[in-house]
Amino acid sequence: MTAYLITNVSVLGAAPTDLLIRDGVVAETGAGLTAPGAVTVDGTGLVALPGLVDLHTHLREPGREDAETVETGSRAAALGGYTAVCAMANTSPVADTAGVVEQVWRLGREAGLVDVQPIGAVTVGLAGERLAELGTMADSAARVRIFSDDGHCVADPRLMRRALEYVKAFDGIVAQHAEEPRLTEGAQMHEGEISTRLGLTGWPAVAEEAIIARDVLLAEHVGSRLHICHVSTAGSVDVLRQAKARGVQVTAEVTPHHLLLTDEKAVTYDPVYKVNPPLRTAADVAALRTALAEGVVDIVATDHAPHAVEDKECEWAYARPGMLGLETALSITLDVLGPRWDLIAERMSRTPARIAGLTEHGHDPAPGAPANLTLVDPAARRVIEPTELASRSSNTPYARMTLPGRIVATFLRGEATVLDGKAVK
Ligand code: DOR
Ligand code: ZN
Repeated sequence: MTAYLITNVSVLGAAPTDLLIRDGVVAETGAGLTAPGAVTVDGTGLVALPGLVDLHTHLREPGREDAETVETGSRAAALGGYTAVCAMANTSPVADTAGVVEQVWRLGREAGLVDVQPIGAVTVGLAGERLAELGTMADSAARVRIFSDDGHCVADPRLMRRALEYVKAFDGIVAQHAEEPRLTEGAQMHEGEISTRLGLTGWPAVAEEAIIARDVLLAEHVGSRLHICHVSTAGSVDVLRQAKARGVQVTAEVTPHHLLLTDEKAVTYDPVYKVNPPLRTAADVAALRTALAEGVVDIVATDHAPHAVEDKECEWAYARPGMLGLETALSITLDVLGPRWDLIAERMSRTPARIAGLTEHGHDPAPGAPANLTLVDPAARRVIEPTELASRSSNTPYARMTLPGRIVATFLRGEATVLDGKAVK
């Protein structure tokens, strides 16, 4: 196994030091380390962070390997500084059985670029009618702990209650895509001034807020863990703030795009900006930023949603919702939060690792810690070229934008997955 000596690197913004990585762990830290035989990585000007953990990634395999595979998505993740990603269940077939989650888990192992932790569906076929075999998925080799029908809301309150009760047995968590479907029928974008002007059917904020309010009450009643996917409105933040003050076991994520972009983008009619939940108003963006800094929203999750050209480069109404995220998330978060490295590590690594129960991840680079880490050049700026991304799809909303920060290297259990900003395999 290769040893790596990273010299003169700042761990989370602290004074520069050397880091020796050997046998899968951070073996030593300190100034002036020597390690004969180790590969030296010049860390001057770089910041070392615990490897990022994404709680919300669509890898599209099985079923839509033309849009992404476990391997291409894993490579995109490693290049984005991630060492673990949770793969959403809305594949084809749906990840609602032990067989499918084990397949995704095994493909992740084979690719070997990040730890791929499958998420299991809550309901059979994401149809919202009967519970999937949650226990069987939990007991499988994939050891599923997060269950989600993401893409669809578990709208039936009785099913949601049953799911919350069921996962308690193995300290599992239900991750809800909060969207009251009766309120979003035919919706194309955020319901507001701009949707009225464009004549597009709106997706009202209350459709999200009503489900979050209901589900925090259900989680409180049952005493279970609830996670809210891609929170997008100021009103959702208010509901979460109240629930947390009461001690409800609820966590929430926000995506980079909801932290940066607004519904003004829909004016272009460019479907690259079509996403579910939709881009909201500047006031929502401001509330989400504050909530993230305060911890009312616990984490940044990408909702990386690759789509094939024919599903995106068409009329707005026919385009699938979703945008890429893995290769740009750190840059957007850095832009939004500034170089507050401890906060970034908390929101993008430690807390998501804790929520997902990924015990090998989310550890600051310190002696004895598993060597899952990433090196960022905060001074670098890069222009995003969709065709240069490792994802098999190119539906990034940041095309030709200049973003701060660049991932220089990523290590998974002490092996480099990215060096010099390039994937190692
Ligand atoms: O925009 C979205 N895309 N939102 C979702 O909930 C699902 C996702 C997808 O699978 O493409
Ligand atoms: Zn979703």
